[in-house]
Amino acid sequence: MKLFFASDHAGLTLRRALMEHAASLGHDIVDLGPDSTESVDYPDYGNKLAQALAEQPEAHGVAVCGTGIGISIALNRHRHVRAALVNDVTAATLTRQHNNANVVCIPARFVDYALAEEMVSTFLITDFEGGRHERRVDKISCQ
Ligand code: RB5
Repeated sequence: MKLFFASDHAGLTLRRALMEHAASLGHDIVDLGPDSTESVDYPDYGNKLAQALAEQPEAHGVAVCGTGIGISIALNRHRHVRAALVNDVTAATLTRQHNNANVVCIPARFVDYALAEEMVSTFLITDFEGGRHERRVDKISCQ
């Protein structure tokens, strides 16, 4: 799967680890930055990821910031993005099955690497269930 990765400075180290993990699973990785731990603004990188998904709607995204909250808020301002902040593997599963989330947001300050990797790999292998969830997801896009 084509995967776009973005973070802010607080998420940089974990983002890089997750990129390596996803590459080892055979995914096609695109790094949207940032490239250093110098302080940056998470909306800039959330918007960059949203733009990449607008151009390649079949791709998915992985976004990381300190809490995962700021970058998920920025991403969800874009109509074509369904960004889910996850803190456990069950949420990573359910947001694919029920919400057809196309971006998984990881809170770098609150999860360890092993859990973050497991949440991302679970997100990537889980399919949208459709059915009644399709109607609900369509209603999100209509607003
Ligand atoms: C950066 O210090 C921090 O505010 C950011 O990573 C994120 O947690 C915002 O929601």
